[in-house]
Amino acid sequence: MPATLITNIGELTTNVDAAGDRCGTLRDAAVLIEGGRIAWVGSAGDGRRLLEGSGFGPSTSSGTGGGAGTGSGSGTGGGSGIAVVDAGGRAVIPGFVDSHTHLVFGGDRADEFEARMSGTPYAAGGIRRTVAATRAASDDELRRRLAGLVAELHAQGTTTFEIKTGYGLTVEDESRLARIAAEATPEVTFLGAHVVPDEYADARDDYVDLVCGHMLQAVAPHARWIDVFCERGAFTPDESRRILAAGVAHGLLPRVHGNQLGHGEGVRIAVALGAASVDHCTYLDDDDVAALADSDTVATLLPGVEFSTRQPYPDARRLLDAGVTVALASDCNPGSSFTSSMPLMIALAVREMGMTPAEAVWASTAGGARALRRDDVGVIAPGKRADLVLLDAPTRVHLAYRPGVPLVAGVWKDGVRL
Ligand code: NIG
Ligand code: FE
Repeated sequence: MPATLITNIGELTTNVDAAGDRCGTLRDAAVLIEGGRIAWVGSAGDGRRLLEGSGFGPSTSSGTGGGAGTGSGSGTGGGSGIAVVDAGGRAVIPGFVDSHTHLVFGGDRADEFEARMSGTPYAAGGIRRTVAATRAASDDELRRRLAGLVAELHAQGTTTFEIKTGYGLTVEDESRLARIAAEATPEVTFLGAHVVPDEYADARDDYVDLVCGHMLQAVAPHARWIDVFCERGAFTPDESRRILAAGVAHGLLPRVHGNQLGHGEGVRIAVALGAASVDHCTYLDDDDVAALADSDTVATLLPGVEFSTRQPYPDARRLLDAGVTVALASDCNPGSSFTSSMPLMIALAVREMGMTPAEAVWASTAGGARALRRDDVGVIAPGKRADLVLLDAPTRVHLAYRPGVPLVAGVWKDGVRL
C-alpha cells in the first residue's frame, strides 16, 4: 500500500490534548499515512519539505484549494509512488467511534415509530418484536442487512463501531448474532439481558440462569463485552449485577444500559464494577453524577434515542461541568434510534444538550474510543490507526452548524480510502 500525504488541511482535529484545547487543533496541516497507521503529523509546509527531503519529489496534486464545497485534488509525488491528497483548506477529523449500536437484526418497526409520533410512549417491550423477526431471518439475510448498515456508517465517517447481540435471546440465536457481528467488528457485546423473551415470561429466574450459564458460554468466545439493560421492563438491579458478574467471570468486560427511561441503579452498578461505559444516562441524580466524576466509567449519551422517542435529552453540560468523560454514540437499532449518523448525534448534542461543537466532536471520536477502552483510534497522532474523515467544510463546527447536510467528503480506514 503506497504512503499517502493529506495536505493543505485548513483545520486538523488531532485530539492530542494541547493546553486549553482538548481537540488539539492544528491549522494548515498535513498528515502522512503509511502501512495503515499515521506516520507523521505537522504543518503543510513541513509536509512539502518532508516529501522533497525524502526524495519523493514535488507533488503533482491537482487540488483546487479554497473553502467548503471545493473538490480535493490527488496525485502522485515524484517517482516515489506516494499519493498526495490536497484537502483544499478543508477540515479533517479522526474517524467517528460509534461505541453503541445494535446492527444485527431482522424486521422493521416503522409502525411503532409512527404510533409514537401520535403519542404512544416508547417501552422496552418493543424489543420482542425485533427478536421475533431476527429469529426468523437467515444468517445471509442478517449479513446482507448488516453489510448495508456498515456501508451507511462508513459513508458517514464512522470507522470504528461496536455491535451488541440482544435480538436473539436463545443460545443458538445469540451465538449466531455474535458470530455475524464479529465478522464486521472486534467490538462485539453480549446482550442476552436485553429483555426477558416471551417464552420465559413466567420464569424470568430461569432466563437469567440461562444468560449466566449456557448462553454466556456459547457467546463469550465471539465477544469482548457484556452488557445488560438495567431498566424498568427489562432487568432489575439484582439481576443486572448477577449477569454482569457472570460475564466478568468469563473474561468479558462490563458495560451497562442504564438510566434511560427513569432513575435507577444502572449508573451506580456500572461504576461499582469499573465498567468502561454506562450508556443513555438520561435520568441522573446528583449522586450518579458524582459517582461518574470519581470513576473511569464513561457516560455515553445517545441523543438519537431522545430524538426518536420524544424523551427529554440527557444533560451533557451537567456531566461535563462535573468532570465526567462523555461519549456520543448512535445506538443504531430499529426500535429507539434507527439512525447511524454520528454527525446527527453531534448536531443534537450541541443544539439540545449544551455541548460545544468541540466537545461534541471529541465525544464522538476520542470519547467513543475511551468508552471502548481503545487507545489506537479516536486520535490523529503517529502510531495510531490511520482512520480519518475529510469534511466538505472549513471547520468541524459545520457538523453542528449545518445539520442534516452530508459533509463527509472522504473516509480513510486503516489507511485505505473507502
Ligand atoms: O438502546 N435500551 C435498550 N435497547 C435499545 C432499544 C432497542 C429496541 O427498542 O429495539 C436502546 O435504546
Ligand atoms: Fe442500546
